[in-house]
Amino acid sequence: MSASFNSIIDAATLPYARAGRYAYHFVRGKLHYDPVYRAILKNGLLPNEGRLIDLGCGLGVLSALLTEARNQHQAGNWNPDWSTPPQHLELHGIELLDWKVETARQALGDRAIVCQGDIRSIELPDCSVAILLDVLLYLNAAEQRQILQRIARTLQPGGTLLLREGDAAGGLRYYVTSFAEHVCCLWRGQDWQALHYRSATEWIALLEELGFSVDSLPMSQGTPFANVLFRATRIV
Ligand SMILES: C[S@@+](CC[C@H](N)C(=O)[O-])C[C@H]1O[C@@H](n2cnc3c(N)ncnc32)[C@H](O)[C@@H]1O
Repeated sequence: MSASFNSIIDAATLPYARAGRYAYHFVRGKLHYDPVYRAILKNGLLPNEGRLIDLGCGLGVLSALLTEARNQHQAGNWNPDWSTPPQHLELHGIELLDWKVETARQALGDRAIVCQGDIRSIELPDCSVAILLDVLLYLNAAEQRQILQRIARTLQPGGTLLLREGDAAGGLRYYVTSFAEHVCCLWRGQDWQALHYRSATEWIALLEELGFSVDSLPMSQGTPFANVLFRATRIV
């Protein structure tokens, strides 16, 4: 029997009901409409074992998805056209906002370790894969470089960083991306916040300078945005 992505979403989302309607519907929407989660699973972008750290993990959506993908695979429900999901990957998240940490913990229980902290200063555990999905735009250029340098030191040789950001050279789609993010910040009650984007070419140049080999995948399918997922491998 093969699991559809929708049935994985259903099971991954269910534990968020404990944290309230907002969390439940937000996570459902994210998993349904943001192409990055499907792409990570389908294309086998993660190692089978080791430690994953998700920096700026928000509500822990990726950990919820990976946990449920592993469950379904172990139960024999898996789409044979998809890569095998990670079976022995320890899941760690780091998140700045207390309420998001609390929500993630409520939903994930002991299936992931979620810490409150600022990725600019918190000590990073050694890892085989690091994730930064839509987070670096909140940091200025110097902070972006510094966290990527620290990740390069923390990742084991051959380890992977998955970084998703808007492409500042993405034309009209880039303006939609940036505008939508500003609206979300205002909706969350934040003042007009400075957001720091780079072009895809600039991200690749920075990652290569820091010792990664990089390939990139467009990551806006089905959305009006100009997002790119960079898969950066720490050169051994
Ligand atoms: C757009 S959300 C993305 C959440 C998550 N990566 C995802 O894809 O669902 C950005 C997250 O980064 C967190 N964040 C921003 N700056 C941070 C920092 N300095 N340290 C830790 N988390 C941070 C925010 O609180 C927010 O939860």
